[in-house]
Amino acid sequence: MNNRAAFLETEKGKIVVRDTETAEPGEGEILIKVQACAIQPADAKIAKYAIVPMEYPLVLGSPVAGTVEALGPGVSKVAVGERVVCGTKVFVHKKAKYGGVQRFCVVDESEVVEIGNTDFTKAVTLASYTPPGALFGSTTLNMHRPTIPASPLPSSEVGKKILIWGGSSAMGTLSITYAKQAGYIVISTSSPHNFGLLKDLGADHIFDHSDPATVDKIRALFPVDYWFDTISLPSSLSTILKILAPEGAPVTPADIRLLLPPSMPGMPALPDGVTAQMHRFSTHAPENVDWQKWLLSRGGFLEMGIKSGVLKGVPAHVIGGLDSVEEGIEMLSKGVSAKKLVVEPWA
Ligand SMILES: NC(=O)c1ccc[n+]([C@@H]2O[C@H](COP(=O)([O-])OP(=O)(O)OC[C@H]3O[C@@H](n4cnc5c(N)ncnc54)[C@H](OP(=O)(O)O)[C@@H]3O)[C@@H](O)[C@H]2O)c1
Repeated sequence: MNNRAAFLETEKGKIVVRDTETAEPGEGEILIKVQACAIQPADAKIAKYAIVPMEYPLVLGSPVAGTVEALGPGVSKVAVGERVVCGTKVFVHKKAKYGGVQRFCVVDESEVVEIGNTDFTKAVTLASYTPPGALFGSTTLNMHRPTIPASPLPSSEVGKKILIWGGSSAMGTLSITYAKQAGYIVISTSSPHNFGLLKDLGADHIFDHSDPATVDKIRALFPVDYWFDTISLPSSLSTILKILAPEGAPVTPADIRLLLPPSMPGMPALPDGVTAQMHRFSTHAPENVDWQKWLLSRGGFLEMGIKSGVLKGVPAHVIGGLDSVEEGIEMLSKGVSAKKLVVEPWA
């Protein structure tokens, strides 16, 4: 059982594809034979700028989809041979065996989800824990969690609206799907060439993020109850602040959820009454036990959302085998529009 991986050999170094040992899954861990692995903006930021300390040589990539190859001690959630998807733990454990762009990868039992007959490439576009964490965690936006089939919102939530800035991003598309399945009214933004995608996802109000008129169009939809900036760049946060605090008008108080730190260079100052917090979320934290059960248990929302087709994300863009990882990192650094880059380690 030979493993082969795309290694980032040194900090900010080259990506080299080579044979390597196959890891043994430890207590509560599972060895996955990886058929598809997504790469995402965070991978590019680590490969190019080493934004967090990691152990090298390193293997990037998450989530992975494939079949269960072997079970570590104590694992009972899935069986050998089952088709699954799972976020990897490489940013937590920082070791190569936990990265996704390799033929065999070690994942955590608690986060693995069975996918039935869903394509592996499609499954990796759907399995991010960030949108459901940001929307439905008890310490995050704490919105009402969706069910399959959909159930009515409680009366206290009926008619509430969420602004999802960046609706064509990987995080934005999934956030729209989750919020719509829960029953909320969704206002979202993208470039005009992605309006069709946002419409298909069910967004109720869709605006061009680059059109200055979008500010007043969103103000005309007030009140907006929840604010989620899935882009979290100075340009996106500045525009959201124009919606909340236009010159000469009173500030509308809001708490904006971001995916990057509000302290990043170039981020605008927040007016009194407006707060912005970067989403930090552990699926294992004691306060997230209910959330984890709802999303990740056997028969939970993620499994049912993937199998039923309720969950929709950006389309998968398969870039090739392990040799394509370097090219994928370059593509992500330049920025992609409405697509998830996917590597097939056996291609
Ligand atoms: N904190 C966390 O836990 C966490 C987790 C996941 C991701 N993230 C971060 O969240 C960000 C989004 O990740 P992702 O994977 O969803 O990104 P992505 O899919 O690569 O985002 C691409 C999209 O961004 C949109 N976009 C680019 N610049 C924009 C701008 N100035 N205003 C509005 N939209 C803009 C583009 O929309 P159009 O093409 O329609 O213009 C494009 O579709 C990244 O920075 C990532 O590192 C953080």
